[in-house]
Amino acid sequence: MNINWRKTGQVRLQLGTLLLVGLFVAYGVYSSSVEALVSTEQKSVLAKSSEFYDFRTKLPVDLQPIDCVKKACVALTFDDGPEEPFTSELLDVLRSKQVAASFFVIGFKAAAQPTLTRRMYLEGHDVENHSWDHADFTKLTPERIKEEVQKTQDAVAAADVPAPTMFRPPYGRRTPKIRNEIGLPTMLWDVDPKDWGETDVDKLVDKVVATVRGGSIVVMHANHQITVTAMPRIIDALRQKDYQLIPISQMLSGSLEPNHEYFSAR
Ligand code: NI
Repeated sequence: MNINWRKTGQVRLQLGTLLLVGLFVAYGVYSSSVEALVSTEQKSVLAKSSEFYDFRTKLPVDLQPIDCVKKACVALTFDDGPEEPFTSELLDVLRSKQVAASFFVIGFKAAAQPTLTRRMYLEGHDVENHSWDHADFTKLTPERIKEEVQKTQDAVAAADVPAPTMFRPPYGRRTPKIRNEIGLPTMLWDVDPKDWGETDVDKLVDKVVATVRGGSIVVMHANHQITVTAMPRIIDALRQKDYQLIPISQMLSGSLEPNHEYFSAR
């Protein structure tokens, strides 16, 4: 049989080219159909999430393995958010300073702002439960208490964030009976600069820095401008005094029990 090898080679080349073109076309059709499935809004959320996710995987300095004996730890905590524009600005400050903290969120606000709630988590912060609508729990029935706690757990989980493992009672008001009904560790504080009522940034910075000790839990708020303004200086001053700033989950890791209350890590 007389085979024209040159011609066979050409046919093979043409078949190869055709196959490549076919693959290109198929990929084009596939990717444009995927494109069509993702709305513009979803795309911007996805872009943001991956940006935050990159940040979390980098592990901020304060999320590296921690030894609070070698270097004293302090937990900064922020209640009553998420609330714009303050919470975003606060997150910006914490990110630029590479600090991870603990946020005690109000359920209805977290439900209304899932992207912001998820951002807290992705940037290395604890996202914890501060009730659904900041009710005084000493005035509620056991059923309402359970509902306040559970709806907030659900709102956080709906934002694609692990469900909270701590509860902070609104106004710090609680009784042993209420603690039992909540079923989560009760997280209080030992340093309260009353940032919500302060108008002088210098005074706010001084109050925090003068009262913090190793193991302190500082309560502040995620919905006040003065807190955002003071935060870079508070962080710098505490680091100057050689404290490492970490979330409560890390400071008290392994020692949290439901129906107990905590004021500090001392
Ligand atoms: Ni509060």
